[in-house]
Amino acid sequence: MEIKKGLEDVYVKETEITYIDGELGRLYYRGYSIYDLAEFSNFEETSYLILYGKLPNIYEYENFVKSLRESRGISDRVKEFLKSVKKNADPMDVLRTAVSIMGLEENTHTYNVSEQSIINLISKFPTIISYYIRLRRDLEPVEPDTSLSHAANFLYMVNGTKPSEEEYKAMDVAMILHIDHEMNASTFASLVVASTLSDIYSSIIAGISALKGPLHGGANYEALKMFKEIGYIENVEKYILNRLANKQRIMGFGHRVYKTYDPRARILKAYAKLLAEKKGGEIKRLYEIAEKVEEIGIKHLGPKGIYPNVDFYSSIVFYALGFEPEFFPTVFASARVTGWIAHILEYVKDNKIIRPKAYYKGEIGRKYIPIDSR
Ligand code: SDX
Repeated sequence: MEIKKGLEDVYVKETEITYIDGELGRLYYRGYSIYDLAEFSNFEETSYLILYGKLPNIYEYENFVKSLRESRGISDRVKEFLKSVKKNADPMDVLRTAVSIMGLEENTHTYNVSEQSIINLISKFPTIISYYIRLRRDLEPVEPDTSLSHAANFLYMVNGTKPSEEEYKAMDVAMILHIDHEMNASTFASLVVASTLSDIYSSIIAGISALKGPLHGGANYEALKMFKEIGYIENVEKYILNRLANKQRIMGFGHRVYKTYDPRARILKAYAKLLAEKKGGEIKRLYEIAEKVEEIGIKHLGPKGIYPNVDFYSSIVFYALGFEPEFFPTVFASARVTGWIAHILEYVKDNKIIRPKAYYKGEIGRKYIPIDSR
């Protein structure tokens, strides 16, 4: 009997959604290279592709976009909750709770995913997140603008101004790159819940809960904290060597599947560089530190197959686009919700409840002793 720690190399299902080539560092959504999708597609079209397995024709696309835009508003109950929650709450806890309220409002009991639930989940995450961001900044929340695309509207609701073309493209590409990644921890968590035929909201909340962790979707926040802690490019080598000597991880580095450079990090690095050049100041300084961390990190970890992952440069992109670091995991979740839904729809088609085993190594047949004799 072999224990597969962390279910490493265990296949839990067949899939046609995402293929990761961990050796060559390639990623495909429904057979399309993410390089092509990042260059030519957008978040809405790629979400449709991930959910339904094909690129939409113009009617399917316009219909899907229209449904998303019309469903961006959040209920008064969710707004009241967001106004009531303390300002230093963990944004992933706030998102998870707001989605719980959405589930209560939709009154979903068992597994029967409606089109509207799918649209609601994808369209409302940015509104929930930006509403709370504005309240924390003591600013008036910004209502969604149905004339803007998904990514542009997200930035508009956060910053109160419409993004430039570069900012929109950087956000849209970042969201495309976060939509799905095969059987990562949060997708698996959402599948476990869905496999019991629980409701879609409970499954998505499981995904949010797993994504929050610093080893997964929380690494982008940790990476930026690390760049800020380093402070100056001259400190990088000493800081990294110190961390490695103390067996501390370089956040935004390493991956269970990629044993080479994460292709998403390659694409995000280009946008991080572009935004750093444009914005200058702290963003530029943090980008230059990140580049140096990448160089030193690869020098020491590359031989072990440990390279930058999606969270390394996404941290610079999200920061440059106006998100406080503690919100980076929620931005990740706002894209990954599409992937969670797609894998749930695919798995439950010929469902089997997920129930692995644990290898018992304790005693058997111990004699019960009454408490006054212990
Ligand atoms: C995401 O699964 C996905 O697809 C996830 C994701 C997605 O899109 O859903 O890609 C998103 O979560 C990316 C990963 C974000 N996490 C981080 O950046 C946190 C830092 N990275 C690590 O904790 C780690 O690399 C993991 C969690 C990503 C992968 O962990 P594994 O595969 O279980 O590897 P491991 O922890 O067993 O490490 C193997 C060895 C260890 O050394 P030894 O004890 O064998 O000597 O590699 C070392 C680790 O110490 N190692 C690192 C390291 N990552 C692994 N050493 C220093 N820095 C690191 N970042």
